[in-house]
Amino acid sequence: MYTLKLPWPCLLTLLLVGAATHDGNSVWAKRTTAFQTRSTAGKSSSPECRCFPGDACWPAPSAWNALNESVSGHLVATVPIGSVCHGDTYDADACGAIQAAWTTAETHTDSSSSVLVPYFANQSCDPFLPRDAPCVVGTYVQYAVGVSGVSDIQSTLSFARENNIRLVVRNTGHDYFGKSTGAGALGVWTHHLKDFDVLDYSSPLYTGKAIRMGAGVQAGDAAAKAFAEGLTLVAGVCPTVGLAGGYTQGGGLGPLTSKYGFGADQVLEWRVVLADGSDVVATPDRHPDLYWALSGGGGGTYGVVYSMTVKAHPNELTTAANLSFSNNGSNDDTFFKAVGAFHAVVPALSDAGGTALWTVQSRGFSLGPVTAPGVTKETLDSILEPVLLRLQYLGIPYSYSSAEFPSYHESNLAYNPPGSTPGVQIGGRLVPRSVFTGNEDGFNQAVRKIVGQGAAVTGVSFTAPNEVNFDNSVNPELRNSMISFQVGTLWNHTDWELNLRNQDLITNTFIPSLADLIPGGGSAYLNQADFREPDWQQVFYGETYETLLQAKARYDPDDLFWGMTAVGSDRWAETEDKRLCRVS
Ligand SMILES: Cc1cc2nc3c(=O)[nH]c(=O)nc-3n(C[C@H](O)[C@H](O)[C@H](O)COP(=O)(O)OP(=O)(O)OC[C@H]3O[C@@H](n4cnc5c(N)ncnc54)[C@H](O)[C@@H]3O)c2cc1C
Ligand SMILES: *[C@@H]1O[C@H](CO)[C@@H](O)[C@H](O)[C@H]1NC(C)=O
Ligand SMILES: *[C@@H]1O[C@H](CO)[C@@H](O)[C@H](O)[C@H]1NC(C)=O
Ligand SMILES: *[C@@H]1O[C@H](CO)[C@@H](O)[C@H](O)[C@H]1NC(C)=O
Ligand SMILES: *[C@@H]1O[C@H](CO)[C@@H](O)[C@H](O)[C@H]1NC(C)=O
Ligand SMILES: *[C@@H]1O[C@H](CO)[C@@H](O)[C@H](O)[C@H]1NC(C)=O
Repeated sequence: MYTLKLPWPCLLTLLLVGAATHDGNSVWAKRTTAFQTRSTAGKSSSPECRCFPGDACWPAPSAWNALNESVSGHLVATVPIGSVCHGDTYDADACGAIQAAWTTAETHTDSSSSVLVPYFANQSCDPFLPRDAPCVVGTYVQYAVGVSGVSDIQSTLSFARENNIRLVVRNTGHDYFGKSTGAGALGVWTHHLKDFDVLDYSSPLYTGKAIRMGAGVQAGDAAAKAFAEGLTLVAGVCPTVGLAGGYTQGGGLGPLTSKYGFGADQVLEWRVVLADGSDVVATPDRHPDLYWALSGGGGGTYGVVYSMTVKAHPNELTTAANLSFSNNGSNDDTFFKAVGAFHAVVPALSDAGGTALWTVQSRGFSLGPVTAPGVTKETLDSILEPVLLRLQYLGIPYSYSSAEFPSYHESNLAYNPPGSTPGVQIGGRLVPRSVFTGNEDGFNQAVRKIVGQGAAVTGVSFTAPNEVNFDNSVNPELRNSMISFQVGTLWNHTDWELNLRNQDLITNTFIPSLADLIPGGGSAYLNQADFREPDWQQVFYGETYETLLQAKARYDPDDLFWGMTAVGSDRWAETEDKRLCRVS
């Protein structure tokens, strides 16, 4: 049987090619275009800006030492992990090792400063650039406190507040909007908060098994620990994403969404350190507005989550499937007919309670996994059979596999093994079912057009369960959608200008071509979208934005927390040198 080898990274599959064409002579040294996003020009050390390294207000070493003592020595001064490839700190062996490990997510998620979305590193200390390329702390956080408890968080917040330092909450560094990094910033680094306790929980909302986990717990570890207790947790497809951080706070989409709802729908309690240092528990009854905002309204802007308590579900029979076929270059028409045949079964997959994840790119199609809790292999095979028949009819060789497992965890290990995580740039759109089924041809053509220009399109299909007690800030447009489409291009380490051209294609061509098919232009999932989305307040948050702003005003009135496209962030912007300044 013919097999197309597609290594699985988390979500976007590989084999991407840069969408825009190389101009042939563009190398890193010729970089001319500024690193500038939603910037405000001209301001510098005005009192309306955060204090910046080099300013007179920047704390003296003795002040940093005092902070370090107050956090039991957990303060880390950033040394970018790629420094071993540059300047005086060059070390050939260490540099080779970090290059080899660069697309392994843990290389970044275990660090106090690195980020997985390369644009926000501004090419600084990039291990694939020449030894004499710039290597400065730049847009990485200046310092991070590897917090081990509530008091470390409190000390860090008060240091940032008292010294007017930009503050960043950093968990794993997966954020597509650069919200877990920042020039001149001090990071609250939550990675070491790994507590994990199984509880018998009882509240007016829910009685049953629950898990309380520290803010640093990552999806893969959580799933394994829950499985050892006979339990299943709702998470995304990537084992290194943090659960209590941006994922759940931003909504949380994944293979169990059709069965149990979003990550945020699982939350029973948040323990949070607020901007003023208070340590509070937010539930549907206590600080209900904070509970509501944290459950879907986006990470990094209302407070620092110390732990969260979520529902845990019993293990259940789960079927998974994968399918791949390739576009050999001379079968473009038949290839896209086959892609269309898959799109035609997406509603049936959702109706069965399944969640599908697929990627279309110029070289091939790959579906995997489809996850169908409570569904037998026979049923899932029969839903996908029309696609296989169509492939046979079209004469396209394919590889299909499906199997039944006693639990979601086992199905996920077999059908969603961890893969590499290359740097990408993305944009996104949510498509409601009626719009998709009413204009499937339109979507098929848009996907073909985007893919034809070298980008990849990833779809995640789901149907959120229709329950009444999800009173949280997950955007109703997300709840009412059937497909979350992402468009991505692969990051090119050496060619900055090419990356910016790809960004422009995503923002100005690819996403609009999907938006044009949706009345009103549609919404996007705030965790998986374009950081340059023009109308992000409406597109990411919709009708929840005004209420979220009220929670922001109440719990962080002085904007200690800021992140690009986070609620309330439009009151601030970065200058050309990435200094954070108030704009209104
Ligand atoms: C490879 C990849 C795969 C992904 N797969 C999925 C998926 O399957 N489903 C899905 O829904 N999403 C997915 N995402 C998106 C992911 O949910 C977001 O990037 C999310 O923000 C990551 O959260 P984090 O805490 O791990 O990352 P970080 O980048 O560390 O943080 C993200 C945001 O949350 C804030 N934050 C982190 N911790 C805290 C805390 N303790 N308190 C307050 N704020 C905090 C940060 O300030 C930042 O704003 C994926 C992203 C990537 C890069
Ligand atoms: C990155 O860009 C350079 C210069 O334009 C080009 O030569 C190279 O092939 C590109 N790399 C990838 C992986 O596309
Ligand atoms: C903080 O203190 C610890 C322990 O004394 C030390 O190892 C570390 O280097 C210090 N951090 C900074 C930024 O000085
Ligand atoms: C981003 O990189 C460019 C090119 O190396 C550099 O001029 C600029 O200062 C960097 N910006 C920051 C904030 O480090
Ligand atoms: C490409 O695939 C088609 C089937 O879709 C096949 O008929 C054709 O021979 C293949 N061409 C090449 C060059 O492999
Ligand atoms: C599909 O799943 C099977 C079983 O886990 C695996 O052997 C195969 O490599 C997978 N195919 C793809 C394309 O991932």
